[in-house]
Amino acid sequence: MASTAGRRVAVVTGAAQGIGRRTAEVFADEGYALVLNDLREPTQTVGSLESRGAEVLAVVGDVSSEDDVLRLRDRALERFGGVHVLVNNAGIALIAPAEQTSAAQWRRVVDVNLTGPFLLCQALGTGMLAAGQGSIVNVASIAGLRGVADRAAYNASKHGLLGLTRTLAVEWGGRGVRVNAVCPGWVKTEMDAADQARGAYDDVDITDQVPAGRFATPDDVAAAISFLADPLRSGFVNGVALPVDGGWSTDASWASLRLAARARSTGSRST
Ligand SMILES: NC(=O)c1ccc[n+]([C@@H]2O[C@H](COP(=O)([O-])OP(=O)(O)OC[C@H]3O[C@@H](n4cnc5c(N)ncnc54)[C@H](O)[C@@H]3O)[C@@H](O)[C@H]2O)c1
Repeated sequence: MASTAGRRVAVVTGAAQGIGRRTAEVFADEGYALVLNDLREPTQTVGSLESRGAEVLAVVGDVSSEDDVLRLRDRALERFGGVHVLVNNAGIALIAPAEQTSAAQWRRVVDVNLTGPFLLCQALGTGMLAAGQGSIVNVASIAGLRGVADRAAYNASKHGLLGLTRTLAVEWGGRGVRVNAVCPGWVKTEMDAADQARGAYDDVDITDQVPAGRFATPDDVAAAISFLADPLRSGFVNGVALPVDGGWSTDASWASLRLAARARSTGSRST
């Protein structure tokens, strides 16, 4: 078994593109060695990390498969000897009215978005508990905090992921393993491009909802994940579901009020 020689090791699932790739890059810049998972070879991510001088191991596999998850764990431990951070980022969207969502579609979304993270928490959390340290960050969504129409399976999976996060936080927090979640608003990634290509919504539908007036970026989400992963910056933060949404999930304003508040010029403030 190779030694980590003091280097921190992070596993990021769904790392071939989008939020997962950007998160891996941020970790590489922070000096982590990376274990990358995806359904396909994360070739571009590997290239980007190696150009930053990071040690990288890529393990192709499906997070919902017990065999694939155990293989990922074994390869990671064989190469690096231990894992300090797990980011459960791999996820799939499904946009369909509830009454038209088939049982097979429902099961696939829940398998990938909820059962996968559970299997990874179990497989890698065991080693973290034995070491008495570790940080797990689950990538949920504001769809885990609120209802969003036409996403019954996706929303249920992300609500479930927050339930898993909170339960493991209380079960493992006393043994040195913190478990937190980020809840991004809509992010400009390939997932968004695919959803918009299907005509599900457009940019203005999203930006009008957000007090900050824009989409989240992979950088916004990666920065929050990096914060929650790092015991020096967030060592007493455990069990949170951190919105990274520009204020969307906290805003009960109606649309015209939100847009008026955003557009108000500073000159109209009384002094
Ligand atoms: N894009 C958004 O607007 C948004 C908003 C909130 C939350 N999220 C969540 O953030 C995470 C990443 O989203 P993204 O926008 O980067 O998505 P993306 O579709 O761009 O990337 C997801 C990656 O996960 C991989 N993946 C899918 N199923 C997998 C499986 N079974 N096993 C291993 N890898 C698998 C895909 O191949 C892909 O590389 C997801 O969990 C998503 O639900 C995204």
